Amino acid sequence: MKITLFGATGMGGKAVLRKALERGHDVTLLLRPQTASGASLPQHVRVIAGDARDPDAVRAALVGGDAVIQYLGVGGMGDGKPNDLVPDATRVILDEMAQQDITRIVCASNIGVPGSGAWLFRKLLVPLAARKLIPILAAKVKMEAILRASSADWTAVRLAALNEKPDRGRVRVSAEGLTQGYTITTGDAANFVLDSIELRQFLRQTVAISN
Ligand SMILES: NC(=O)c1ccc[n+]([C@@H]2O[C@H](COP(=O)([O-])OP(=O)(O)OC[C@H]3O[C@@H](n4cnc5c(N)ncnc54)[C@H](OP(=O)(O)O)[C@@H]3O)[C@@H](O)[C@H]2O)c1
Repeated sequence: MKITLFGATGMGGKAVLRKALERGHDVTLLLRPQTASGASLPQHVRVIAGDARDPDAVRAALVGGDAVIQYLGVGGMGDGKPNDLVPDATRVILDEMAQQDITRIVCASNIGVPGSGAWLFRKLLVPLAARKLIPILAAKVKMEAILRASSADWTAVRLAALNEKPDRGRVRVSAEGLTQGYTITTGDAANFVLDSIELRQFLRQTVAISN
């Protein structure tokens, strides 16, 4: 398939890119200009330089594509301040997808958005020890609302905390968007996302995953 990937240089996106290429997909990346100039990437990957909120750049990145993976982030846990990069970019991507008759998109979300995650995570860990996550979760609430209001075949994958340990090959999946697990490897998450694209699973759903 021809997949456009946003966020390919992030912790999670790097694994998505690697796995997508291993599976034989034809991948186009949208990278920020300063990132594109410094990135060392496989030669056959198409790169569009631009910002994920710029309609012109997004349009160019989507041309000829079959599906989209949006793994954008604000850099780890961010700076604890409100940041609408993810919902703003998602809105632009969906608008441009509609113009080009591309329907399938899978977006990274987080466990911890209301209705997901273990009780301990939501009620103790985030408010007490990981307050920087609060604006990130708020942005994902907005992103999920934008997806629900769209006519796309979207899936929002609520990821547990990512780590770069070896794949476990076993993922706990909650189709209701809940999960009791706390972590997942970037490779297992990437495989789940790519399976969802290839098998057209979890259409118009939030789904939570962890190891
Ligand atoms: N990491 C976790 O433990 C975790 C857990 C649950 C959910 N998630 C979610 O999963 C997603 C990916 O997480 P991550 O940790 O891989 O994120 P990350 O390491 O922060 O990577 C963010 C990616 O987005 C790109 N990006 C940022 N601003 C951009 C812009 N304006 N235009 C184009 N690209 C831009 C970055 O490119 P540059 O290289 O140019 O900066 C990078 O490729 C996020 O939504 C995050 O909240 C992450």
